Amino acid sequence: MKLLSTHMQAVVIETYGDADVLQYKEVPLPAITGDELLIQTRSAGVSPFDTQVRAGRYKDEYYALPMILGWELSGIVVAVGTKVTSFQVGDEIFAYPAGSRAGRAYAQYTVIKASEAVHKPVTITHHQAAAASMNAITAWQALFDAANIQAGQRVLIQAAAGGVGHLAVQLAKWKGAYVMGTASIRNADFLEGLGVDEVIDYTKISVAKAMKPVDVVIDTMGADVLKQSFSLIKKGGTAVTLIDFEGIKSATRYGVMGKTVFATPNQVQLQQIAQLLEQGIVKPHIEAIFPLHQAQKAHRHVELGHTRGKVVLAVK
Ligand SMILES: NC(=O)c1ccc[n+]([C@@H]2O[C@H](COP(=O)([O-])OP(=O)(O)OC[C@H]3O[C@@H](n4cnc5c(N)ncnc54)[C@H](OP(=O)(O)O)[C@@H]3O)[C@@H](O)[C@H]2O)c1
Repeated sequence: MKLLSTHMQAVVIETYGDADVLQYKEVPLPAITGDELLIQTRSAGVSPFDTQVRAGRYKDEYYALPMILGWELSGIVVAVGTKVTSFQVGDEIFAYPAGSRAGRAYAQYTVIKASEAVHKPVTITHHQAAAASMNAITAWQALFDAANIQAGQRVLIQAAAGGVGHLAVQLAKWKGAYVMGTASIRNADFLEGLGVDEVIDYTKISVAKAMKPVDVVIDTMGADVLKQSFSLIKKGGTAVTLIDFEGIKSATRYGVMGKTVFATPNQVQLQQIAQLLEQGIVKPHIEAIFPLHQAQKAHRHVELGHTRGKVVLAVK
């Protein structure tokens, strides 16, 4: 496959702020080193995480400007580093490219570590693969590494219809758990279709009154949702948060274990996820597709906080 240009289109931020800081512009094509792949991006997921980075939430921890956002990627290999043996030009891959702490998926071409990628199942689209990259790894690490859920356990997924939540419920069902999920009523059929045993409409009733104690809560919301979660868990059970690393410190006051997950790339786990995708056991849902140049619109959509499944950017 021949590259046509030394430059590409990308969405760049040069300053932190609201969605207006996302600029669609021409930038130099990135170069690869020995253990890397150059990917022609086909789909890039848009996560609330991206909007939080864009707004400056993590600026003191990891990121330097200017930067290209995007940690959820699916595309085609167009160049391989000299040390890479497991991929060839033309392979379709998906990845959670976080090793460098800057994902750079909002671009026509993206450099990733070969160790962060796996082959995309032919049975799913690039958009579904992008949707499952970071979010399925996050759900996996929360359910299996942090909470170590077991068949028959009662597991509550907070915001079960969201990007992470709707994959977490499918992974928890696959493991044999009894799965409950919070959502508004408009998502009840969607979640039942994914196999959720009990859908709890958080807008109408107290979640605590609606359910018997659980073994595990996966919290994707933080703040009050996490605080309420503690009293829903059996003594000795586990609360895992993806977002509220301060609030989780109160877990011990309720006699439960508090854990955090900040997902790290893991090729072995992503390969297992690829198999579940291929077999149709895990099905990512795409709510909306925006072209790359409409990244501002995509961010505003995600920031409404009511995405069902995933919002992605189509990249050509
Ligand atoms: N730590 C990590 O490694 C990691 C990785 C990925 C993501 N994250 C973080 O995890 C969080 C969730 O990400 P996401 O992509 O799953 O979010 P998302 O897709 O934007 O979540 C949207 C969902 O939240 C539901 N929701 C909104 N308010 C709710 C409430 N009070 N109770 C229950 N459900 C509610 C909505 O359902 P309704 O429309 O029915 O209200 C909607 O389906 C984000 O903060 C993200 O940054 C962390």
